[in-house]
Amino acid sequence: MVKLLKNNIVSGSSGELLKHFTLSVSKQTRKFHSTIPQYKPTPLIDLKQPAEEFGVDKLWVKDESHRMGLKAFKILGGSYAITNIIYDKLGLDKSELSFKKLLEKDLSRFTFVTATDGNHGRGVAWTANQLGCKSFVFMPNTSSRARINNIKEFATNVFIVDGNYDFASEKAEEFAKKENAILVQDSSWDGYEEIPLIIMQGYLSLIDEIYEQLEGNNLTHIFLHCGVGSMPAAIEAYLVNRFGKNKPKTIIVEPNKADCFYRSTETGDGKPHIIDGKLDSIMAGLSCGTPSKLAWDIISQHSNYFISCNDEIAKIGMKELAKQNIISGESGAVSYGILKYASEEGKSIFDKLKIDNDSKIMLISTEGDTDPMIYNSIVGRSGTSP
Ligand SMILES: Cc1ncc(COP(=O)(O)O)c(C=O)c1O
Repeated sequence: MVKLLKNNIVSGSSGELLKHFTLSVSKQTRKFHSTIPQYKPTPLIDLKQPAEEFGVDKLWVKDESHRMGLKAFKILGGSYAITNIIYDKLGLDKSELSFKKLLEKDLSRFTFVTATDGNHGRGVAWTANQLGCKSFVFMPNTSSRARINNIKEFATNVFIVDGNYDFASEKAEEFAKKENAILVQDSSWDGYEEIPLIIMQGYLSLIDEIYEQLEGNNLTHIFLHCGVGSMPAAIEAYLVNRFGKNKPKTIIVEPNKADCFYRSTETGDGKPHIIDGKLDSIMAGLSCGTPSKLAWDIISQHSNYFISCNDEIAKIGMKELAKQNIISGESGAVSYGILKYASEEGKSIFDKLKIDNDSKIMLISTEGDTDPMIYNSIVGRSGTSP
């Protein structure tokens, strides 16, 4: 159910990359997000009783179900990137980046394209819609009806491709080239790094909020749910910059059907490897078979552990977090599921992760009930997250 791998690789160089994820960059992104009328920090919840149950000192959950009505953190990246791109195109001064300022302009000539398994595309489509731009979103054929409809609400058009997330990504790239539109992808590859880097910086508002809400508490462990790796890499880079060797231990969590970071690390050759096929996990947001290039450079060097687990663990997490009144979706609850499983059946997992009664653990519930029907079918009641 839960496979654990300690990271032994320390190679390559991500030194240059790290400088894009400093405390001061996180302050800039947070300042930008504060100019979005719908923005406010999501709650950080101190789970006292579960901390006692798991035998740890502290357990917090950052609850992204409250993120701007979109129920996932991904909007932080898409909104930041699109605003940066438009500022560049209009030749505006980026030292005072403001979403509000763009709301006053006619931006109908801009068209954005992306591929998604749900949350990133919803963020891109929402941002484009708010700004009066066009957006085209490509999704894998395994996408659920609700997640497609979430995007149709804001996008100019949604295309369902005959293949997985990686295939959708190829199709989006082709379409953007053909239509002379702007590709806003949350993954990077050789020759496509600038925009994904800005998207990653957008995610720094999440960790900036967390440390503000921790009010001086430190962390020993942080679990990071990983798809293409952009969010976990951004947070890890920030932690390395801010805390150096004393950074909290980072644990990269993936579904076993799409555990490309776990498997790449396991090979021990220091290179990212691709997983082909259907990538069929209920953890749709984490079902990506190709590590983002930039993310790999950071994650391969700075992660302490990798965990690969099956859908049952995500379901346990969803049900258990619901008992704590946290609405957490399939890709949001898996870390909590790991802790619950480890506390009951897999105690050696705690030993390997060096989790004990002094541990102060951060989980990020990265999405709420982004598909309410699936949520209901697993948890047995509907979510109520806004
Ligand atoms: C809910 C959720 N959690 C985590 C992730 C992983 O983020 P990344 O793909 O940047 O690794 C995603 C990605 O879409 C997601 O939707």
